[in-house]
Amino acid sequence: VKTRTVDGVEVGAIGLGCMGMTWAYQPSERDDARSAEVIREAIDLGVTFIDTSDVYGPFTNEELVGHAIAGRHDEVFVSTKGGMVEISPGEARPNGDPDHLRRSCEGSLQRLGLDVLDLYTLHRVDPAVPFEESWGALADLVTSGKVRRLGLSEVDTDLIQRAQAIHPVTAVQSELSLWTREFTADVVPYCDAHDIAFIAYSPLGRGFLTGTVQGNTYEPTDRRWSYPRFQPGVLEQNLGIVEEVRRIAAAHDATPGQVALAWTLAVSPNVIPIPGTKRPERLRENVAAADLILTSDDLAALSALPDTVGDRY
Ligand SMILES: NC(=O)c1ccc[n+]([C@@H]2O[C@H](COP(=O)([O-])OP(=O)(O)OC[C@H]3O[C@@H](n4cnc5c(N)ncnc54)[C@H](OP(=O)(O)O)[C@@H]3O)[C@@H](O)[C@H]2O)c1
Repeated sequence: VKTRTVDGVEVGAIGLGCMGMTWAYQPSERDDARSAEVIREAIDLGVTFIDTSDVYGPFTNEELVGHAIAGRHDEVFVSTKGGMVEISPGEARPNGDPDHLRRSCEGSLQRLGLDVLDLYTLHRVDPAVPFEESWGALADLVTSGKVRRLGLSEVDTDLIQRAQAIHPVTAVQSELSLWTREFTADVVPYCDAHDIAFIAYSPLGRGFLTGTVQGNTYEPTDRRWSYPRFQPGVLEQNLGIVEEVRRIAAAHDATPGQVALAWTLAVSPNVIPIPGTKRPERLRENVAAADLILTSDDLAALSALPDTVGDRY
C-alpha cells in the first residue's frame, strides 16, 4: 500500500478501523479469531495505522488489537482513544475528567500490551469539563512517557487552536466520506496548513457507500438504527449518491467502496482513511483502493453529488 505520514512517521495510506470487530455493528457477526487474522493480514499488506478505543466493547476491542499485534509492535502505529464511556450497550457519552483520562490511558496500555501509545486521541470533548483540563492531562501523559502524540476527534478549528496553545495536535480524527464532506471546508485545510494528519473515520459511510446496502436490514441492536441517515425512508433517499459512485467505479473496474476511499485520499495528502471490516476479502478490496487514481472528471462529478439527506448523529 502507498504511504502517508503522521508526525513524520510513515504509515500505510489506508489504515484499519477496528471498532466494528467487537462493537456497534452486527453483534451476531462478531468473530474475534477472524478479526485478529484481518489485523495481522492488514499489517502484512502495509496497513500500519490501526485504530481502536477503550469504549469499543467497551475494552474488548483493545484486547483484540493487543492480542493481534503481539510480537509485531515495531510494525504498527497504534491509535487509541479515551474520554468516552459506555452508558448503555453501544451508546457512549464523553468523560473528560483528568483522573478518568489518566486511568483510561493505563488501561489502554495494559490491554494493548504496550509501554507507550503511538497516538492517544481525546474521543470527544466533554462539555462538563474545561477543555484545557482534559487536554492538559493528556499532555502530562506525553511528558511522563506513556503516550507519544496526541489527537482530537470531532472538533472545529477553534478547539484545535486552543489545544495547540498547550500541546501540539498530531492528528484530528473526524468523519469524512462522500456523504459527509463538511470538514473539507475548514478543518481539513486547517490541518493541511499546520501539518496535522486528518484521520477520516467511517470513510465508507458505515458501509452505505459500498453499494451493498439497499435498506436498513441490520440487527435491532446495530448502532446504525440510531443514526438519522439509516432510518427507513431516509436511507433510500441517499441511494442516488451510491448510483453515481457505482457509475464511476464501473469506469475504473473498481468497486463503489474503492471509489469512496480513493476520494478521501484525493481530498488532501494529509488524509488517512480508516475503513473498518472484519472480513479478509473486504480488507484486500479496501487496501487496493490506494492504487485507484480518480480523474479530474471523476472528482468533479463527485463534488457535484447531491447533499446528503439526514443528519450524521
Ligand atoms: N472518532 C470517532 O468518533 C469514530 C466514530 C466512528 C468510527 N471511528 C473509527 O473509524 C473506523 C471506521 O469507521 P466505521 O467502521 O464506522 O465505518 P466504515 O469504515 O465507513 O464502514 C464499515 C462498515 O462497512 C462494511 N464494509 C467494510 N468494507 C466493506 C467492503 N469492501 N464492502 C462492503 N462492506 C464493507 C463493514 O462491514 P464488515 O465489518 O462486515 O465488513 C462495516 O459494516 C472505526 O472502526 C473506528 O476505528 C471513529
